[in-house]
Amino acid sequence: MTSKLSLKKLAVLGTGKLGGILLRAYLKQKLFAAKNVTATVRHEEKAAALATELGVISSTDNRKAVRGADIVILGVKPQVVGDVLKEIKPELGKDTLVISVAASVPTAYIEQRLGEKVPVIRAMPNTCSIVGTGMTGICKGAHASAEHLEIAKALFDAVGRTVIVDEKNMDAVTGLSASGPAFAYIILESLAEAGVKVGLPRDVATLLAAQTMKGSASVVLETGDHPALLKDSVTTPAGCTIDGIMELEEGKLRVTLIKAVVKATQRASELLFEK
Ligand SMILES: NC(=O)c1ccc[n+]([C@@H]2O[C@H](COP(=O)([O-])OP(=O)(O)OC[C@H]3O[C@@H](n4cnc5c(N)ncnc54)[C@H](OP(=O)(O)O)[C@@H]3O)[C@@H](O)[C@H]2O)c1
Repeated sequence: MTSKLSLKKLAVLGTGKLGGILLRAYLKQKLFAAKNVTATVRHEEKAAALATELGVISSTDNRKAVRGADIVILGVKPQVVGDVLKEIKPELGKDTLVISVAASVPTAYIEQRLGEKVPVIRAMPNTCSIVGTGMTGICKGAHASAEHLEIAKALFDAVGRTVIVDEKNMDAVTGLSASGPAFAYIILESLAEAGVKVGLPRDVATLLAAQTMKGSASVVLETGDHPALLKDSVTTPAGCTIDGIMELEEGKLRVTLIKAVVKATQRASELLFEK
């Protein structure tokens, strides 16, 4: 699949944090040739900086950018998606695949604004994609085929793992794995702070915390074992871990994390309707 992409023309509309992470990865991995890529942003000076840094055709002109594109990635904020769709509609090829990473924006919203039969994929990646350990949920719109889904999967597999979900679950993916890195960084930072409290130098404490979180996540992913079972294997009877766990339970860590994801999921459904 990835070799098929190298001849395709890609337009990234809204090459900000996330769009930029994806585009840099695709160029680095030679998934697309720079000469076949157009990228847009809102500010002229940012467009110029992108062109210099990445060697792609970069501008603030979305209409021009999608002309002749095989794949369009919509990387603008949810509130801007409607305006961008209106702009690009007249220029979009009938077979152009539109992939939106905008939170909160249903595929039907995009389809309605682009007219009939446009293949649309909705994706929700996360910023861990920057080091190739991203997690992306994708779903397809009414006119996207299995092949379109495969293309999108290849694009997000290039920056981590991809899971195909029902569209009704996309806000939940947003609340869990797209917002999740922020939650994980707070936990990680707190563990490092704890290390400092018990006497470790800050850099050592941060390394211990980060590698421990990475290791724990890797064990879950590689063994497929239930996290509770893995937790039990660390918890020696009358040892030190159980004392730490009692503090976590008293501090309501679990319910706090559950509530954080629930709130972020609810918020994910609201973004589109704000201007
Ligand atoms: N950040 C995340 O963790 C994350 C995760 C998953 C999904 N997302 C989704 O990704 C999208 C972008 O988020 P982000 O965090 O990357 O935001 P961001 O850094 O603010 O990027 C948005 C980009 O859109 C550009 N832009 C604004 N109006 C435009 C227009 N009319 N035409 C073309 N480009 C325009 C901005 O240009 P300037 O730079 O010139 O202002 C900026 O580069 C959102 O829809 C968000 O829901 C984000």
